Amino acid sequence: MPRRRHAVTVRAVRQVFPTDSGAADLDPVDLVHDDVRQTDGTRPWVLMNMIASADGATAVDGTSGGLGGDADRRLLGTLRGLADVILVGAGTARAENYRAPRTPDDRVGVLRATSGRPPRPRLALVSASLALDPTALMFRPVDPADPPPLIYTATGAPSDRRQALARVAEVVAAGDGDRVDVGMVMADLSARGVGVVLAEGGPSLNHQLVAAGLVDEVNLTISPLLVAGTARRILSGPALTAPAGLRLDRVLTADGFLFCRYLTA
Ligand SMILES: NC(=O)c1ccc[n+]([C@@H]2O[C@H](COP(=O)([O-])OP(=O)(O)OC[C@H]3O[C@@H](n4cnc5c(N)ncnc54)[C@H](OP(=O)(O)O)[C@@H]3O)[C@@H](O)[C@H]2O)c1
Repeated sequence: MPRRRHAVTVRAVRQVFPTDSGAADLDPVDLVHDDVRQTDGTRPWVLMNMIASADGATAVDGTSGGLGGDADRRLLGTLRGLADVILVGAGTARAENYRAPRTPDDRVGVLRATSGRPPRPRLALVSASLALDPTALMFRPVDPADPPPLIYTATGAPSDRRQALARVAEVVAAGDGDRVDVGMVMADLSARGVGVVLAEGGPSLNHQLVAAGLVDEVNLTISPLLVAGTARRILSGPALTAPAGLRLDRVLTADGFLFCRYLTA
């Protein structure tokens, strides 16, 4: 998700857990790209990335931009750089005016090339209504050779919108009626050889992924702000059958932000 406002100068990125790196300015690329992301091969590794205020709000005035800062953007860019696919719900794509994923910074770009990945991750959207503007920025490729965004929809999607979007995207039916089955989405991505999915929200889609046991890693940025209001938490939906446990793997800090990496197993 683009996080534009609240710009600050990034001071040192420091690790505070499991060991304290002291004053050293770490490059998140070194850490994040060395992490092991291996599943049993039946589906991609799913990494959920969200930012929330200290009181749990995921948006200010309807977008996440007011929560972020330079350090957060740097980490997000790093995570995007290791993803094969960026998965997002249509609500977030509309609210945040999503763009086609851009080319990662030089270092990340080199790492992508070395590991045989295409220069940019592919965007994948989930939408029942297909109320997406085919002229939106997310459908304008950085390079005409890039594969178009994937749109996962259900059988009940309006056919006129499906036809209009098929000119700028690959529209895939992955569910009946008005409900996309997130398990079918993962099966399709797996069949396409996708290894790492960066799930960027929003809270509704996150809830479904967690409820279906499809999330391997949660990267949660805690922004040093209190927001209150009606903004949702990082998961939005009914209580899970049982709380999903998380294992804290790493905590970084910069500019008053905390960057927590959790693993689900
Ligand atoms: N803080 C953060 O890191 C962060 C990250 C992401 C988003 N956000 C915020 O979260 C808010 C948006 O939240 P949200 O929960 O509405 O977003 P969302 O989960 O991105 O979008 C919900 C929409 O996605 C589609 N969708 C999701 N699951 C579906 C399914 N199983 N089948 C068919 N369609 C499905 C539907 O689109 P259609 O309506 O097109 O059918 C649904 O209305 C925004 O304010 C955004 O700024 C914050």
